[in-house]
Amino acid sequence: GQYDARFRPKFHFTPQSGWMNDPNGMVYFAGEWHLFYQHYPDGNEWGPMHWGHAVSTDLVAWEELPIALYPDEKGYIFSGSAVVDAKNLSGFGKGGEPPLVAMFTYHDMAAEKAGKTDFQSQGIAYSNDRGRTWTKYAGNPVIPNRRNKDFRDPKVLWNEKRQEYTMVLAAADHVEFYASPDLKNWTYLSSFGKDQPEQFGVWECPELIPMQIEETGEDAYLLIVSTNKGNPNGGSGTFYYTGHWDGENFTKLTETAYNTPGTKWLDYGRDNYAAVSFANVPDGDGRTIMIGWMSNWEYAQEVPTEAWRSAMTVPREVTLHDTEFGYRIRQRPVRELEKLRGERIELGTDYLEDGLTTVDLSELEHPGVFELKFSIDMHGNSESLYFTLTDAESKDFYRFGVERGPNGASDKWLFTSRDFAGLREFDEDFTRDELTYLERFSQSSVIDFHVFFDKTSAELFLDDGLTVATDIFFPTTDFTKLTIEVNGGRADMDGYLGFSVDDWRL
Ligand code: FRU
Repeated sequence: GQYDARFRPKFHFTPQSGWMNDPNGMVYFAGEWHLFYQHYPDGNEWGPMHWGHAVSTDLVAWEELPIALYPDEKGYIFSGSAVVDAKNLSGFGKGGEPPLVAMFTYHDMAAEKAGKTDFQSQGIAYSNDRGRTWTKYAGNPVIPNRRNKDFRDPKVLWNEKRQEYTMVLAAADHVEFYASPDLKNWTYLSSFGKDQPEQFGVWECPELIPMQIEETGEDAYLLIVSTNKGNPNGGSGTFYYTGHWDGENFTKLTETAYNTPGTKWLDYGRDNYAAVSFANVPDGDGRTIMIGWMSNWEYAQEVPTEAWRSAMTVPREVTLHDTEFGYRIRQRPVRELEKLRGERIELGTDYLEDGLTTVDLSELEHPGVFELKFSIDMHGNSESLYFTLTDAESKDFYRFGVERGPNGASDKWLFTSRDFAGLREFDEDFTRDELTYLERFSQSSVIDFHVFFDKTSAELFLDDGLTVATDIFFPTTDFTKLTIEVNGGRADMDGYLGFSVDDWRL
């Protein structure tokens, strides 16, 4: 289509062609970060699911490899995870090398069409050549359906203490936990979620991650769940629980904060779904690194690209914190992305007073592709500030900003709008102003922003990653101008804007 080149991001992963949704099987192995993904190579809408495959040595540049898993007579290959079976407990290893083992959901389309409800089961496959080729296990399915039509998206992790694998999967309105000594034989352990208030829609793509609360050093677990409805700004979204996992049961941590927390959303924008973390992150690194699908089921199949559909978010490092709003995560773009930094436009320490400041972006290497990092002091008196990314004629624009709430200096809302950011007619649910309450660590009037723009997306990290919003949009002209508007009072700003993206995607 006429827009495919214009809309193709520079530093986010997109498949060369065809449809993509959830990230799957993310695992680090032998110097490579593997990203598998839900993929339909023969069309640009959801269809018979395969696992597409890409690798990166630095989390920045991705190389697409041949498809890893094809659908077969047992069904489509839905979402799942992968581990390095370091002790070769599965017996799939070869020549003393540990195998990569993937666990996925089989979705039996024929059974679904025949009106059955037992069409989802779990299967495994292994690779002895660094993920290049895969063999499905002859004993599949390893977990037959347990009479629930939503029974999918297994996430496997190694439990060091119990010397066994733990697995969590989604079953409509709850998650279920399983254990296995060898990845082939699985025992049901427990369920969590039915009695939780987060019953917005069907639960999908769960994730269980061991963490440490940074302020106390206490061990805890993050249980992350994607829900096909219920995003506070519309459509599908991802929330999380903070708790304890004792090898058999998940229990929520008791919140000691004075501000009673509501649902904890991973991302308040509309375009971060099914986010999961990498397994086997190298020793001494120990980071939790997540990637999500940068779209929303409300309109994903209608967005105006033709050759391919959808991009992934940038990889984000996740940490857990004890805050006045309860146990909360911070997400920060991984430090590897600093590689992309090049020429800078300094935003200076000038203060901005009531009115408009314009920054010329026309000298940037690629229009609409840059990082923006700054902090701004609203001094408690300015009412709002807006950042508008637009073209020379101010025809299309994407806007975000901070508005002050009624309860004093720390009461602030993040506002984003893509209503006029370009093409929008393809789906009526696409445009809708977004408002997100900023849960702030401190009463400070200073807010820091770290934003990544990549032609068709904005990823906003505020307050050092405490609040995150990710949105996509489809501008029809180049964004070459940034305007900063301060309303009422003054604001001090310090930061820069810049980027230099190597054209690794050629
Ligand atoms: C989430 C999801 C998963 C499923 C996959 C199918 O986006 O619906 O639950 O495994 O997509 O493509």
